[in-house]
Amino acid sequence: FKVPTPVNEPILDYAPGSPERDELQKTYAEMTAETIEIPLIIGGKEIKTGNLADCVMPHDHQKVIARYHQADASHVAQAIEAAAEAWKTWSEMPWQERAAVFIKAAELLAGPYRQILNASTMMSQGKTCFQAEIDAACELIDFLRFNVEYMTDIYKEQPMVSPAPTWNRSEHRALEGFVFAITPFNFTAICANLCASPAMMGNVVLWKPSDTAVYSGYHIMKLWHEAGLPAGVINFIPGPPQEIGAAALKHPDLAGIHFTGSTKTFQYLWKSVAENIENYKSYPRLVGETGGKDFVFAHESADVPSLAAALVRGAFEYSGQKCSAASRAYIPTNIWPEVKKRVGEMTAQITMGDVGDFSNFIGAVIDQRSFDKCAAFIAHAREAADAEIAFGGETAGDKGFFVQPTVIETTNPHYKSMCEEIFGPILTVYPYDPAKLDETLDLCDQTSPYALTGAIFGRDRGDLVMMADRLKHAAGNFYINDKPTGAVVGQQPFGGGRASGTNDKAGSKLNLLKWTSARSIKENF
Ligand code: ALA
Repeated sequence: FKVPTPVNEPILDYAPGSPERDELQKTYAEMTAETIEIPLIIGGKEIKTGNLADCVMPHDHQKVIARYHQADASHVAQAIEAAAEAWKTWSEMPWQERAAVFIKAAELLAGPYRQILNASTMMSQGKTCFQAEIDAACELIDFLRFNVEYMTDIYKEQPMVSPAPTWNRSEHRALEGFVFAITPFNFTAICANLCASPAMMGNVVLWKPSDTAVYSGYHIMKLWHEAGLPAGVINFIPGPPQEIGAAALKHPDLAGIHFTGSTKTFQYLWKSVAENIENYKSYPRLVGETGGKDFVFAHESADVPSLAAALVRGAFEYSGQKCSAASRAYIPTNIWPEVKKRVGEMTAQITMGDVGDFSNFIGAVIDQRSFDKCAAFIAHAREAADAEIAFGGETAGDKGFFVQPTVIETTNPHYKSMCEEIFGPILTVYPYDPAKLDETLDLCDQTSPYALTGAIFGRDRGDLVMMADRLKHAAGNFYINDKPTGAVVGQQPFGGGRASGTNDKAGSKLNLLKWTSARSIKENF
């Protein structure tokens, strides 16, 4: 068995007339032509509960692409039983055989599954073709291939000293129990990886997907199945979060939670675990990536064209719904007029609409709640004395949840949208006096409780080093002269601290180690 040395999956460009574009357009047309029924998948069996909910497209919310069966507490109990049964063989399987399943999944995804997962992600999460490609295809393939490389390192590592006549070694066992994966809507790769990384390490998983990403989740389940993942290793239980959560969180076999979502939900999970702490067989591992209020901070020496491009791409790609999206910016007043002009020109060129029309740069935001939240922030800025809409600000919710890319300019570094997470295409800019660089760095560090991503721009190495140092704890993924989005697996492991999560970097050995429990063995001869 030789693990292939990973390289990042090349991003296909979907140029008009390219084979990948033709294939994706055909797959998208075929998939949108039907309304499928999505069952729960427990112990490899499809279960229809009859309690149905709709999956719709964000850019066309009357269009039902699927009806999915929702789980209740009794299905959670069933899933825990099925997982426990699967654990007996899966956790004992040689790690090379487990790795082979995920390598096979990566190969299927690079081949026949690529356009199925891309089309699913466009339809259910409203991504454009390029945004789907870098997520559902490339990032997920990379997660699978690189994590197999990292798991290989973990299992092969034997750093113990063994004075004669002993042999000391460390054994990486699966956790005793199940891992509860609670996944977001915004990245298909994150959803799959939150399940795959514990599973690789021999664990069994209960998967509660976001209700706005059930459709692509179901197709990921098909991918696992075709790659040879044994029944019961990952159990798919969409449905009402509170009921599913309560049943899973109380169970004595809860061994870990792998979460991406809101800070509030993660805090709820910690509290629930704390309340049940005496009931568990082992202390559950809690790994989470949560909110963000990601920044771009420019020095007056910054290169204006690249800064403006980073603001537009960082804030507006995927309608600002990446947890890493640029949502607040600190720009020196002496370069702001020029930056503003360029940002305005680029923003005016952004095309928004149906993602099935491949020429659009962005689609709609995910759902009514998100649409209403964006509209409220825009309305607030229209009324506020210390803020104004510099660009954009239009919304249209009749057909899809469309929010125009919007730039708010404020004179108040503590203005509402400088501090609160929005998760939409709204960037707030605070032009600062370059003579007050020092105190503005403090503001950037302290106005938000989050620390996920951040970017600084400047030309002088000394200034950049000073700024990076001052903002040391303000972001888990930090970019110098680049946008704060688009971390690549194997290049920038992803995750943040403070209120943004436990920073157990997705796509790293650190993350995989959370899903093992080591046994130190001393053998005496
Ligand atoms: N990993 C994603 C990014 O960096 C969230 O944009």
